[in-house]
Amino acid sequence: MKTNTHPGAQAPRPNRAKDTSKKIAAGAGATGARGAKDTESALQAELRPGQSIELLKALHILTRDGRLNQDSRRKLKQVEHLVQFIEKQMAELTPHGAELTLADHGAGKSYLGFILYDLCLKASGSGRVFGIETRPELVERSRALARQLGFARMDFLNISAADSAHHAALPERIDVVTALHACDTATDDAIAFGLEKHAQAMVLVPCCQAELAASLRQSKALQLARTPLAELWRHPLHTREMGSQLTNVLRCLYLESQGYSVTVTELVGWEHSLKNELIIARWTGQKKRSAAERLKALLAEFGLQTLLPVRYPRLVEAEPSV
Ligand SMILES: C[S@@+](CC[C@H](N)C(=O)[O-])C[C@H]1O[C@@H](n2cnc3c(N)ncnc32)[C@H](O)[C@@H]1O
Repeated sequence: MKTNTHPGAQAPRPNRAKDTSKKIAAGAGATGARGAKDTESALQAELRPGQSIELLKALHILTRDGRLNQDSRRKLKQVEHLVQFIEKQMAELTPHGAELTLADHGAGKSYLGFILYDLCLKASGSGRVFGIETRPELVERSRALARQLGFARMDFLNISAADSAHHAALPERIDVVTALHACDTATDDAIAFGLEKHAQAMVLVPCCQAELAASLRQSKALQLARTPLAELWRHPLHTREMGSQLTNVLRCLYLESQGYSVTVTELVGWEHSLKNELIIARWTGQKKRSAAERLKALLAEFGLQTLLPVRYPRLVEAEPSV
């Protein structure tokens, strides 16, 4: 497993926000036609060619009169930074089917899907984005926005990540799976989906994780008696952090055991968020047996074996038939 070596992590697109923020502020202060023109040209300098201003307004990244404020600029830069990683993956792929397909789990307001579509798929006239989200109002809103913008190759499904792998509205194969801060075990469900759909790439930024911490908590007394390592998760805050850390380690091992190469890096620009771990998995077809063994050994070490059939079912060996 590589750590902090993703080339994009070293060389993100130059952040033009700093350079142009003064100009935008100046434009905001100026009056009349000149002020509007200054604001417009400063804004254009922050955006990519052809980027939809209407979309950015609808996502409240731009204000109604087309300005960026500090918060929205940060959000735009964050999403665009992630889009660069995904764009790079997409550029290297040959779609399985007629066009490249991408499924975004825990899509929320679908910032990521919309901006990806706008920047990477719109102009080419090919490629389809599926947003998977449990909150119906967000799904409805995204559908309406896609209609309004004429983004015809975007579909939004009001289903859970856990139900997505076998849902009839989704194709048999999906090229790219993303999950940006998909809550709790939705990231695991996105991974299961990606494995089922033979995804060529998965881009995951995990969110808070409670499942494993709950199991660690349950067996804490036993583990403390057994090994001094249990000190690592004795205090509740440490239990939570250890749970998250261990969950992501297990996810990486699982992906490696299923034929993916894995890069773990930091999502630069999200430093104010604790949840800025970016996991990029690329299908190589080389299933690492050692990763499967390590994963099982870790589960045993932490007293978490019950999670094996639940989260890592592909590692459960078939019972020998009698
Ligand atoms: C923290 S938000 C992130 C939204 C979006 N990805 C972003 O970064 O702006 C998590 C979203 O995942 C949705 N969600 C939570 N559990 C889910 C599940 N099991 N399946 C699908 N969506 C889920 C929530 O409703 C919420 O909209």
